[in-house]
Amino acid sequence: MYSSRIVGAGHYVPPKVVTNKDLEKIMDTSDEWIRERSGIEERRFVDIAEDTTAGMGVKAAKIALERAGLTPDDIDFIVFATLSPDYFFPGPGVTVQHELGCKRNIGALDVRNQCSGFIYALSTADQFIKTGMYKTILVIGSETHSNGLDLSTRGRAVSVLFGDGAGAVVLQRSEEQGKGILSTHLHSQGEFADVLCVRAPGNVSKDANGNLIKTKYYPNMEEDAFNTTPQMDGQLVFKNAIIRFTEVINEALEANNLSTNDLDMFVPHQANLRITQFVQKKMQLPDEKVYSNIQRYGNTTAATIPIILSELWEQGRIKENDLFVLAAFGSGFTWASALIRW
Ligand code: UT7
Repeated sequence: MYSSRIVGAGHYVPPKVVTNKDLEKIMDTSDEWIRERSGIEERRFVDIAEDTTAGMGVKAAKIALERAGLTPDDIDFIVFATLSPDYFFPGPGVTVQHELGCKRNIGALDVRNQCSGFIYALSTADQFIKTGMYKTILVIGSETHSNGLDLSTRGRAVSVLFGDGAGAVVLQRSEEQGKGILSTHLHSQGEFADVLCVRAPGNVSKDANGNLIKTKYYPNMEEDAFNTTPQMDGQLVFKNAIIRFTEVINEALEANNLSTNDLDMFVPHQANLRITQFVQKKMQLPDEKVYSNIQRYGNTTAATIPIILSELWEQGRIKENDLFVLAAFGSGFTWASALIRW
């Protein structure tokens, strides 16, 4: 069996910075509340005339390819993770195939696993490479949250947390064993699907007379039918996140007979600085082995982890033989980890 290695990482965030103070002007919130509860100081929002979910993915992919010393024609397959596609369908993978200028009609797969989306996408790409089906796969996580948030006081519990951006990695076949993606671990618990979700349009519909059709998962439909903004029970998500993060990291380490002492870097999904700090303390990791950028970008969901990998790449903080653990938890619930030996 082959192994797969990340040979390039890139990211793109839109230039428009939205600070907590900016949000104070449009809803009843405060810089102090947002910083204290989440660690977020600012986030990026797209200019809708300029950027799209697929388009940001293309920008990130170009950088990743350049760093890998490859061109779009070298890519055999695309895996794209997002919860904020430009079209309800098709997913953005196909747009990337076109906009990136891949001359071959390569396949494009879309993954919708929210905050865990990038690790699910990476794991999928890893399986294709390990079994020999593809040699080079572009894996993208990109989100345009700002278009779908309720930026009034009604939506403040969720909307202050999210930002836009994209990250991409190029995954390539390697014959060297013991390097690259050592293992991935994917989980879900669908009983919590409605704890963090957007119900419409998936769950709402009208009959031929224009009456709302009730669905099993949407008993209170009359209240907010066609509400396309995210709803969340933040405290329940928080409590589950801190348990699952630790669990899934330990699962990855145990599967490879390694311990936290072997880790050079923990790359956590950025949902809340307090979640990261809790997990860091529990795992007794020093500050220099934990990466946080939630202060600058907020939660960029599927884009978060590849943005971090790209930033670490830029900062020269990825060294041969380093051991990284990636971990994420979010809507679904879904959670996941990946252990990487560079
Ligand atoms: O990305 C997927 C994974 N997501 C997560 O992991 C998120 C996990 N949850 C969290 O990070 C936290 O629960 C939040 C940051 C979302 C919220 O923090 P919290 O400490 O759990 O606050 P809370 O929801 O209990 O709200 C406390 C108070 C409430 O007021 P009352 O009822 O105490 O009077 C809220 O109405 O804060 C109020 N509040 C706000 N106040 C100012 C809620 N949102 C805001 C806001 N600004 N933006």
